[in-house]
Amino acid sequence: MPSVVIVGAQWGDEGKGKVVDIFAGSADVVVRFQGGNNAGHTIVADAKKIIFHLVPSGVLHRGKTCIIGCGVVVDPEVLLGEIDALKAAGHLGEATRLLVSENAHVIMPWHKALDQAREESKGKHKIGTTMRGIGPAYEEKAGRRGIRMGDLLRKKAFLGRLRESLDEANFMLEHRFGRKPLRAQEIADAYLAHAARLSEYVADTTVVLHDFLKKGRRVLFEGAQGTLLDVDHGTYPYVTSSSTVAGSACAGSGVGPTVIGGVIGISKAYTTRVGGGPFPTELSDDTGDLLREKGAEFGSTTGRARRCGWLDVVALRRAVLVNGLTDVAITKLDVLQGLKKVKICTAYRLKGKTITEFPADSEALAACEPVYDEMEGWKDDIRDVRLMEDLPRPVQKYLKKVETLLDVPVNLVSVGPARQETIITKNPFR
Ligand code: GDP
Ligand code: IMO
Ligand code: MG
Repeated sequence: MPSVVIVGAQWGDEGKGKVVDIFAGSADVVVRFQGGNNAGHTIVADAKKIIFHLVPSGVLHRGKTCIIGCGVVVDPEVLLGEIDALKAAGHLGEATRLLVSENAHVIMPWHKALDQAREESKGKHKIGTTMRGIGPAYEEKAGRRGIRMGDLLRKKAFLGRLRESLDEANFMLEHRFGRKPLRAQEIADAYLAHAARLSEYVADTTVVLHDFLKKGRRVLFEGAQGTLLDVDHGTYPYVTSSSTVAGSACAGSGVGPTVIGGVIGISKAYTTRVGGGPFPTELSDDTGDLLREKGAEFGSTTGRARRCGWLDVVALRRAVLVNGLTDVAITKLDVLQGLKKVKICTAYRLKGKTITEFPADSEALAACEPVYDEMEGWKDDIRDVRLMEDLPRPVQKYLKKVETLLDVPVNLVSVGPARQETIITKNPFR
């Protein structure tokens, strides 16, 4: 199994960073293929916490090649900040390579300004974006006006593209949103300085990746966000602007579907969501508050409180379908400890009917009432457990139930934020 994709099976923040870091130890290459610095992927290694927004979560292992693929939108300042912090901490030495696709689009200051202006103009219907300029950057890419990493390195071409795109963006900022226009010269100076520092990382990453694949090397594709935030399959319009599903690993890095050997979907043992949009199992009560406090459910990128609720198998089954999941990893199981009862949503009630398919329409989803299976909780702390069979009976039953309902094996269980707080029954590369 040479290549494995890891994706979020919910609304993001499932613990992808932790799982990618673990399996990166067995891989040669780790590739981010979509999203941008709206992502915040946390790794807790050697009692230190580190959050990556753009750099692939395999970078802490020496000797790996980490690629930011063409499907990613890159904020150069954020990327440089991460590189500097990694170097200061003794990472990214000679043995570890970081490369950025020359075709990856660049997040420009007007993308951030437009993201903010649009959100503010939406009032209570706002998406609740991370304000990182992600949506406007992908809009410009699809509108064929974008600036790519490779363009940044060609000064004349860059200045021409900058003027053209900025003209249009300034028109929107001034005349649609009543904001101040941005100045081309200031942006050009800052971005050309970033380009000079980033040039050593920019490459034709498609060729690099295929050289590894030809040699039979193992590639791990690291998804960002989650399936329900996917622009096609998620809770539109309350989604991000990229394709977050496993299929996007191919387009966003330049490989064919034939190289993918397995797809691991990450899910928390409950559900969270940041930002607006429907969320059928959301708990606006003490249990919701308890999950937030105990699970430290505050965003890794924006610090916003995450909305919390019970595990939603109707939504997860959609993730199984659209990603072709071969394995499931359940994280944050430790957070449920101490609850008398735990619930799993197995169906929805909508207009007097029981449904088991996730509705495509967000308004219909918002009208859905969850139907729960209630299970016995557990008192014991499970953070020190390292074998499935050593988990308390109610925990084993909970996991078995999830596995049966999804019809996909649970091959990793996370019982704490640290690397070692993990139960692994199958390494996808072995
Ligand atoms: P990602 O975006 O999917 O990588 O997830 P985030 O890093 O945004 O959020 C997951 C949070 O949960 C991070 O703070 C992790 O350190 C933490 N975490 C991951 N797995 C576990 C776990 O099993 N138990 C607990 N208590 N925390 C975990
Ligand atoms: P990781 O990779 C959770 C959410 C935002 C908002 C919507 C659109 O850490 O799991 P955007 O800025 O992308 O235009 O915002 O998507 N969102 C995330 N939620 N985890 C993420 O990334 C997210 N990235 C974006 O909160 O609701
Ligand atoms: Mg996150």
